[in-house]
Amino acid sequence: MRVLPKANEDCWCGSGQKFKRCHKSTTDPIRPGKVSRLRPVPDSIEKPMWADGTSVSRWDEPDVKSPDVISRMRRTGRDAANILQSLGTIIKPGVTTEEIDEFCHDSAIALGAYPSPLMYPGGSNPFPKSLCTSLNEVICHGIPDDRPLEDGDVLNCDVTIFREGVHGDTNATFYVGTVDEASRRLVEVTREATARGIAAAIPGNPINAIGEAIQSYAEAHGFGVVRDFVGHGIGEQFHTDLQICHYYHPRLDQVIEEGMTFTIEPMITIGNWRARMWSDGWTAVTTDQSRTAQFEHTILITDGEPEILTTPETTPGHPYWDLAGR
Ligand code: MF3
Ligand code: CO
Ligand code: CO
Repeated sequence: MRVLPKANEDCWCGSGQKFKRCHKSTTDPIRPGKVSRLRPVPDSIEKPMWADGTSVSRWDEPDVKSPDVISRMRRTGRDAANILQSLGTIIKPGVTTEEIDEFCHDSAIALGAYPSPLMYPGGSNPFPKSLCTSLNEVICHGIPDDRPLEDGDVLNCDVTIFREGVHGDTNATFYVGTVDEASRRLVEVTREATARGIAAAIPGNPINAIGEAIQSYAEAHGFGVVRDFVGHGIGEQFHTDLQICHYYHPRLDQVIEEGMTFTIEPMITIGNWRARMWSDGWTAVTTDQSRTAQFEHTILITDGEPEILTTPETTPGHPYWDLAGR
């Protein structure tokens, strides 16, 4: 792990600038807060196997889905996107991530869905909340807590829901109040990198064409691409063993086929892309406290451009996200 310079010392990156003017985040480091008790899910909601603390046994789910699975994924994906979009309307300074989690939890249940992160195994303990909230230098899998959002924060909300036996997984990075120029550039480059990764997901291309498109765009803007977390096959399982790296990985040469469903969810950093894990085993942060952003969609491979299954209802035909981060 890198030892951080003091604010007035030279930045580690060799720019010759003071750390505080260069890679230091403009805000204090994010620290673990207080996590409230588990929220119940009514009996009427169909649950994935981990809801009662049972571990996840993976099975060999096909990468190419049946028409039946695809039509269920369209409905679940659209509702995940609707929830993500509605979270954007309550994000403002003073609101806690726990309040946003509660809103997500209640919205999922109102739609007859289970919030997939709740009790999902991994980390030191199962994930205790219904939404991942990742602030500033938190790369992913942040746990909602009692920290009020501050003016200038960037917040990623990652919504996954389970309904009709399938998952829909989508996330976006939102601005809290007025955000500095460097962070806004990071978010916009991440949005465009995600769009370019999606555009590369066409039949006949190798899987690594996706990472290649994302990495070349992000690095051309001087940003880093996180390696430790990847996109994934999704369907009846939250994560299948199909991996989608967001950087160019020569060995990922499996050919993309029509009917595949997977996520693309690049995490892009202003500084170093290396991740460090908090002791909760979930919260991943950049080692240099530089800010990071992410967008995610669940997509279906078609014979042309991919179909984005996590498009909200109010932006039909809109290719990507006017929903968030603006
Ligand atoms: N939604 C995340 C993803 O994109 C996974 C979150 S797992 C959780 O793959 F347990 F942290 F919720
Ligand atoms: Co995902
Ligand atoms: Co996700």
